[in-house]
Amino acid sequence: MDLGLKNRVALVAASSQGIGLATAETFAAEGCRVAMCARNAQALQSAAEKIRSQHKVEVLAEACDVSDASAVSRFVSEVVDKFGAVDICVTNAGGPPAKGFLSTSLDDWNSAVAANFLSTVYFAREVIPHMQRQRWGRIITVTSLTTKQPLADLVLSNAVRAAVVGLVKSLANEFGKDGILVNNVGPGFTATDRLRELAAAQASSLRKNESEILDRWAADAPLRRLGEPREIAETIVWLASERASYITGQTLLVDGGMYKGL
Ligand SMILES: NC(=O)c1ccc[n+]([C@@H]2O[C@H](COP(=O)([O-])OP(=O)(O)OC[C@H]3O[C@@H](n4cnc5c(N)ncnc54)[C@H](OP(=O)(O)O)[C@@H]3O)[C@@H](O)[C@H]2O)c1
Repeated sequence: MDLGLKNRVALVAASSQGIGLATAETFAAEGCRVAMCARNAQALQSAAEKIRSQHKVEVLAEACDVSDASAVSRFVSEVVDKFGAVDICVTNAGGPPAKGFLSTSLDDWNSAVAANFLSTVYFAREVIPHMQRQRWGRIITVTSLTTKQPLADLVLSNAVRAAVVGLVKSLANEFGKDGILVNNVGPGFTATDRLRELAAAQASSLRKNESEILDRWAADAPLRRLGEPREIAETIVWLASERASYITGQTLLVDGGMYKGL
């Protein structure tokens, strides 16, 4: 199947490792020009170099904190200056800490809102005018299974990511007339550093070891295993492609069937 993405400009936020990195790699494998960011410049540059050498595509990598509106604005300007367009924008950030409600501080809430909700607002404000001009665009948010099924001790994620879904549906409604498709991808338990951190936190509070926690999460999915970052990335790239041209305003879980509802 030809995804029709060759030479498109794909910006993938928070992409020095995990799901973001796998997504940047998968766009590169489709012949896209790729823009990447993360806060740690060194890790980001080595991730970008690996993609350049494996896929022979142009890659722009700039340190940027996605919870900082002016940093996002500068980053998007650099992408447009270098590539002349931004066709696809995948918003992503690190996940909030695992906590029950009474353990959260107001700083935790402000950080989660900034990184996991406002970052999408910041990117959408910057990229939509460019996409409108070319009457083609894709915005894909990376959230979580928690958008459909709140999880214990993830109150920050459960609450804040719901706002992203409201934003995604609103943007899809408002900008469909301009050829801009806006969708949300919700990973289930996916084998990345973020998941290992969550497992370590739960292991210490339950006095178990990390691998027992990971095995339990894997067993809870009908597919009886964790997801791989590549599996989330391939869904995102397909949603961005010409093969998903009549899909907008949706949340698509990539969770091995973990979501228990209909
Ligand atoms: N893995 C899972 O099982 C799972 C399940 C559901 C949802 N999710 C969500 O999916 C997203 C990605 O998860 P992941 O597992 O790939 O995470 P990860 O392995 O922890 O990677 C996070 C990436 O985001 C970057 N980042 C973090 N905060 C940033 C910021 N403020 N500005 C710019 N870059 C930032 C990190 O680099 P720097 O630290 O250098 O900035 C890193 O490249 C998270 O929101 C996570 O909660 C993950």
